[in-house]
Amino acid sequence: MKIARFSRIGFILAAAGSAVGLGNIWKFPYIAGEYGGGAFVLVYLFTVLLIGFSIMIAEMLIGYLGRRDTVTSFEELAPVNKHLWKFGGFQALAGLFIMIFYSVVIGWILHYIVTSLTTLPANVKEAEATFTYMLHSDIWTQLLYHTISFVWITYILTKGIKGGIEKMNLVLMPMLMIILAGMFLYATTLGAFSQAVEFMFSPDWSKIDSNAFVVAVGHAFFTLSLGMGAIMTYSASMEKGSNLVKNAFWVVFLDTSIAIVAGLMLFTFLYQYGSGPAKGPGLVFISLPAAFYEMGILGNVFAVLFFIALAFAGLTSSVSLVEPMVQYFIDRFSWSRLRASILMGLFFYLVGIVALLSNIDDYKELLTWGGKNFFDWVDYVTAAIMLPVGGFIMAVFVGFIMPKEQIESVMKPQLKWAFDTWYFSLRYITPVAMFVVLLSLMGVI
Ligand code: PFF
Repeated sequence: MKIARFSRIGFILAAAGSAVGLGNIWKFPYIAGEYGGGAFVLVYLFTVLLIGFSIMIAEMLIGYLGRRDTVTSFEELAPVNKHLWKFGGFQALAGLFIMIFYSVVIGWILHYIVTSLTTLPANVKEAEATFTYMLHSDIWTQLLYHTISFVWITYILTKGIKGGIEKMNLVLMPMLMIILAGMFLYATTLGAFSQAVEFMFSPDWSKIDSNAFVVAVGHAFFTLSLGMGAIMTYSASMEKGSNLVKNAFWVVFLDTSIAIVAGLMLFTFLYQYGSGPAKGPGLVFISLPAAFYEMGILGNVFAVLFFIALAFAGLTSSVSLVEPMVQYFIDRFSWSRLRASILMGLFFYLVGIVALLSNIDDYKELLTWGGKNFFDWVDYVTAAIMLPVGGFIMAVFVGFIMPKEQIESVMKPQLKWAFDTWYFSLRYITPVAMFVVLLSLMGVI
């Protein structure tokens, strides 16, 4: 079968588009706020460099050498026990599961683009009431925007790697960067900018406990789109002769700098016009709109641009969350792309409605078990269990199962003197770290 290939810049933007998502602009600032800023940010940066970067290269390598969907790539690259190793490829399911809530959150963002055009909440209390009403009572608005998100994502997927995914990323990623850069430059002119820098970079180690450490490691994985087959699937369409290390570097660099730029900008606005770094998922939906209100009409412009950038980030990640399973059905069951895209789309759309309803007051009780509603369960099971398992499997697969000569032949010319360090990190540091994260997130330790 003829596989469409990304151009070099197309690959980097698509992989960066996958990595830069709601995790960077919605999640990172609020968890950094929750765990006290500086020290957490440093642990996260350290993890990204030490573990994230090496797993990113490993995941790219499996895709690049395998050239097929994730399941087939594992199967073909395993020298022994192929039928067992192919299950490693089912980490692709995690992406589809994440979409169940990811699409609902993109729906909230689309809704906020529209409302910010005309109205912003006058204070945090009002902002909280608006957000809470939407989340717990307003089924139809959430359903409408969840539907728009589903249609958009599915449409792009039907157009394939070149005509859909690459094209969308070539347009949306530069726009996202321009919007964020513009808002960031404005933020640097405000007095509170130095407070934001201080908050993000001066470490208060007393705020770091083992839980913060685990969250930082988990987030490094989530934000780099690792352990779910997204980078692997894109890498199957990487040009022959590509430099994996350079590509991985660009993706990690763009993802990390965008998280930091977005964080600095948000905290500057929150210090300057709002109540300081807020905690919890409501940060961008509650505290931020109230801060924008204080800026007058410019606030509306900023709010609309900000939510557009957030929507772009979310949409480019979404296609990468679903594409691995689409590719799986195309490769293994000879489904047409149209059929695979629509059926995968319908899966996250319909189950997403259940997630959406589990936040609604009238249905909450029905859809809550063990203290978590369905929405939170999906988040927990994917981030806490599937993701570290995916990372662990990849590290072990490349570190111990694939023949070393095969890995050396591709990676040694690219990594040169750093090859041994990378290989060591994959064999020993990453699997241990992933295992500890898994146990701790599951509450075992
Ligand atoms: N990296 C994305 C974010 O930061 O929002 C989320 C994500 C996308 C995770 C794709 C995993 C993935 F395969």
